[in-house]
Amino acid sequence: MTSRRQFFAAPAATVLASMVSNVARANPKTFPYSEFEQRIARKDFRGMTKATLPTPCMVVDIDLFQKNLETMADYAEKAPILLRPHVKVHKSVDIAKRQVALGAIGITAATIAESELMSRGGIEGVLWTKQPASQNNVQRAIALTQRDPTFLFVVDDAAVVANVEEAAEAAKVKCRVVVSVFAGLTRQGIANGKPALELAQRVSSSKHMSFEGFMAYSGYASHTKGWAARRKKTEEDLAGVRETVALAKKAGLEVPIVSGGSTGTYNMDHEFGLTELECGSYVFMDAIYRQVGGKTNNEVYTDFESSMSVLTTVDSKHHSGQATTDYGNKAMAQLTDQVKGMSWLQVDKQGAEYGLLKWKDGGGEIKVGDRVEIYCSNLDMSTNCYDRYYVTKGDEVVDVWPIMGRSGAAQR
Ligand SMILES: Cc1ncc(COP(=O)(O)O)c(C=O)c1O
Repeated sequence: MTSRRQFFAAPAATVLASMVSNVARANPKTFPYSEFEQRIARKDFRGMTKATLPTPCMVVDIDLFQKNLETMADYAEKAPILLRPHVKVHKSVDIAKRQVALGAIGITAATIAESELMSRGGIEGVLWTKQPASQNNVQRAIALTQRDPTFLFVVDDAAVVANVEEAAEAAKVKCRVVVSVFAGLTRQGIANGKPALELAQRVSSSKHMSFEGFMAYSGYASHTKGWAARRKKTEEDLAGVRETVALAKKAGLEVPIVSGGSTGTYNMDHEFGLTELECGSYVFMDAIYRQVGGKTNNEVYTDFESSMSVLTTVDSKHHSGQATTDYGNKAMAQLTDQVKGMSWLQVDKQGAEYGLLKWKDGGGEIKVGDRVEIYCSNLDMSTNCYDRYYVTKGDEVVDVWPIMGRSGAAQR
């Protein structure tokens, strides 16, 4: 018969043994680096910690990331407003799927390549926010519509509408089309009022297109400092859009979609006529966005947490007040980046593969081999340079998500 002592001793020994072997496996000196890629392919993350990762690399704090996703999803549900988050900031099907699982009705994409990737990754309701101006893009928009009838794209020009109609007729498909209207940002959007109405009517009257509504991205409002000023700018930028929507409805058009908005304006857009939000940055938040100020804190935007950072290694240190890292220009180092938990360090530039950290004032010490985490300034630009997110819980790597459709053919 097993004695009480044996009964308790056995599991304790097993636990201890597994703890010892976990510690051994988690030792960055003994991690089997030759198996690194195979381990990732197998999703076998035993012993993989931040200390074992090749740098520079992107690391996502899963808890903060999940909190950001839930904050936005909860807000959208309560407002209520629909959510079709922009993927340009993360370029990850894994993240898009998590957004959909929390209630997003689809995703918004900046390029046809991003749209193709997301749709092929199984995401429905992809909205492409740049019109197909070239024949290459027209044909791909038609092909994507054939493959995925939930796909939508914008137009802001009658010539593009004519090209789409011709191609759609030849392919015998019906495209879902959203008219992009001016909302303060001069890069795109037909003028509100009569011009927008006429384009909407032109789409609506076509046998090969369905008019789905309007897109109005008020990009300047998103980064306006201070919540009250941002709200005022949003109201001004969306005033013409509201008139256009009213005009279209008066003319007998149904306007199911009025899409726009951003992380900075998510909690005001629904007041000014948007039916869905295209927020993107909230999943990670970048250093510059954090400075726009929120409803309760005018200096720091605390609605969403900084959940992603670039992990870098201190490579050399021989001169006072500075250290060299591997977070160089190719890793998208920016002077406005911030060092996580070490506000006494300032990010500077030094070369393609060489980054620089300078001491701003007093502060602590760092030494060769130390790991430092950087909050990057501009998410869209930075994620485009990296191939994967190492998803972490504390120091442990718990998953790896590929970043897709970056530079090269996949981006075009
Ligand atoms: C058309 C469009 N919609 C939405 C967004 C998302 O904005 P944010 O990242 O500020 O949430 C962007 C970002 O550039 C955009 O270009």
